[in-house]
Amino acid sequence: MLGLSALVVAAAIHSATATIRFGCSQLVTQRFDPLVTPGIVSPHVHQIVGGNAFNITMDPNEDYSKTATCTTCRFKEDKSNYWTAVLYFKHQNGSYIRVPQIPNDQVGSTSGGHTVYYIAGYPPFQKVTAFPKGFRMIVGDPMIRTKAAPQRNSVESYAISFRCWDNPRGNTNNAPPGGGQDTAALPNKFCAGGIRSNIIFPTCWDGKTLDPPDHTSHMAYLQGTVDPGMGIIWQQGNCPSTHPVKTPTVIYEIVWDTAQFRDLWPKDGSQPLVMSQGDPTGYGQHGDYVFGWEGDSLQRAMDNCKDQFGTPEACRELTVISDAEMNRCVQQPQVQERVEGVYLPALPGCNPVQNGPNPATMPANCPGAQPTATATSNPTTTVVQPQPTAPTTTVVQPQPTAPAGPAVPKYGQCGGNGWTGSTTCISGSSCVKLNDWYSQCQ
Ligand SMILES: *[C@@H]1O[C@H](CO)[C@@H](O)[C@H](O)[C@H]1NC(C)=O
Ligand SMILES: *[C@@H]1O[C@H](CO)[C@@H](O)[C@H](O)[C@H]1NC(C)=O
Repeated sequence: MLGLSALVVAAAIHSATATIRFGCSQLVTQRFDPLVTPGIVSPHVHQIVGGNAFNITMDPNEDYSKTATCTTCRFKEDKSNYWTAVLYFKHQNGSYIRVPQIPNDQVGSTSGGHTVYYIAGYPPFQKVTAFPKGFRMIVGDPMIRTKAAPQRNSVESYAISFRCWDNPRGNTNNAPPGGGQDTAALPNKFCAGGIRSNIIFPTCWDGKTLDPPDHTSHMAYLQGTVDPGMGIIWQQGNCPSTHPVKTPTVIYEIVWDTAQFRDLWPKDGSQPLVMSQGDPTGYGQHGDYVFGWEGDSLQRAMDNCKDQFGTPEACRELTVISDAEMNRCVQQPQVQERVEGVYLPALPGCNPVQNGPNPATMPANCPGAQPTATATSNPTTTVVQPQPTAPTTTVVQPQPTAPAGPAVPKYGQCGGNGWTGSTTCISGSSCVKLNDWYSQCQ
């Protein structure tokens, strides 16, 4: 989480503030990005969480809180969609495999997914304005390959960071996101407790634009400086006059189980992780947001839910659903390609690894950019990045089930998406599903 201790410290100093914090399971992982590339297959892979009305186009005039029939997020009222790039581990033989996303602290047994916060921030219990229907935003830029380290005179430099957890975490988890030892780049070492990616959206809105063509210019960070001990979340500052409306601060935290690659970690000190947009630096991490709360439910939550840890059960305004209900809400990928669970010869799409520091470029005539999908909708609206050509219609088939084999020893892997090894545990232990990608003999 934020770092429980950081939250406690901040709460002690600033009393409390309206906060909700909750897990969301994976809805689907595929090359869709209906904000940047509506109607066509996206250049790179994202993991999407939230309401199941998510699609290759998201018509801003549609009320997706009504068309979605389930959500992967903890609150029944939240049919929003949240998505981010995914992380791959590059094997020394040149193949890539997705790094599984695992539940954060105290979010329950979500299947993959990530954590979402809405925070009213400082001063305590100030009134904030929930986003209206049709509101969308993006933070971060998948093409960048360099950025300043977090520094107090640049609020924005705190917005996207990485936390390298030790195991046990100790002092690698006692600062707010972007503070402490967090880095702007992907950690350049093996993190025995995994890596947490922190994405903090701007909190000040121009009060009128739901979604400009660049998906960003309607939002701004608070003015002023950041106290590294408090981070952006409890920053004391004013919204700029151009963006006067204080909205909840939306935060994503994504936990990657990099620890399971310990034995494969390069001995030469090289960094084997690469984001789905061909980014080995991490500077191109980004988050997308499509508001989809029912009615005034988010406003009511921000007005009334004041548990300092944002515990869902403490928010009586909203309806909490079970892990099982969240995990049941899934979409089948519509893009016909394998993106996770097995070693892949290249990153899906057209994403040659580009180290920077110059911004990445989209290669012309890249065969990987010619996707197939069930995308029957017509491409509309502004296109921000160079685009692959129109997709054709095919449906991806469910993955074959894993074949049997010799018995797996205790604590060995016995299943998960893409697992092709044995699913039979040595006698005296049985196969327990820990998440969609990993089952273990216990
Ligand atoms: C690289 O190693 C992985 C894991 O053993 C394997 O699945 C994959 O096929 C290998 N790739 C190549 C190109 O040999
Ligand atoms: C997504 O859009 C396609 C094409 O418009 C449509 O056929 C499909 O039913 C939609 N899926 C969902 C989940 O709404």
